[in-house]
Amino acid sequence: VGKGPLAGKHVLITSGPTHEAIDPVRYIANRSSGKQGHAIAAAAAAAGARVTLVSGPVGVADPAGVAVVKVQSAREMVAAVEKALPADIAIFAAAVADWRVDNEGGQKIKKKGGKPPSLTFVENPDILATIAQRKAKRPKLVIGFAAETEKVIEHAQAKLARKGCDFIVANDVSPTGGAMGGDTNRVHLVSAKGVETWPSQSKSDVARQLVARAGEMLAKK
Ligand code: C5P
Repeated sequence: VGKGPLAGKHVLITSGPTHEAIDPVRYIANRSSGKQGHAIAAAAAAAGARVTLVSGPVGVADPAGVAVVKVQSAREMVAAVEKALPADIAIFAAAVADWRVDNEGGQKIKKKGGKPPSLTFVENPDILATIAQRKAKRPKLVIGFAAETEKVIEHAQAKLARKGCDFIVANDVSPTGGAMGGDTNRVHLVSAKGVETWPSQSKSDVARQLVARAGEMLAKK
């Protein structure tokens, strides 16, 4: 049994992108390094929690002391998340692809006569909204992320209401911000109670503070 403020608690985290197959050799994805999500998993483990990290394809190493479930697509990710329930805290840091290719080919699509293929898309399940709106086995605390390039707070507030989570960690990923793929992050904590802006800091410091805050909020529930 672990020691620390989250001893005895189960923390479920998603991280990284999802890959949605076009055919057996091609995919579409969002840009996501997995650095922030993996740092949160490491911080939760350091705080004594039992941690399940459901990760899309990333280049970063598995954090020590964490159960890592590796998935490719959004549908695999939602299934792995459901399977990992119940959890006390769920933190959805993955950059899930909003759409998958509807007409995914079983064989590699070949170039033919200069005519590019057309892809049609269908919407992927929204994992955060699905879990936050569950009647049974809803984690006590559900935290989402919002990567925005403009109107960061407004968009996060709208997202909070739409998804039904307890708070949103909003980060500015405009090209000048350096969050995308980088090691630092400037985030705003957006809840029904208001907005709190944290100074720009390393993703591991964001992770530690976020885990500490989540622990405090869980204790008050
Ligand atoms: O709607 P948007 O993608 O901006 O919302 C971001 C938040 O929702 C993140 O926490 C992300 O992990 C989560 N999300 C999800 N499943 C999706 C899309 C987003 O869990 N299909």
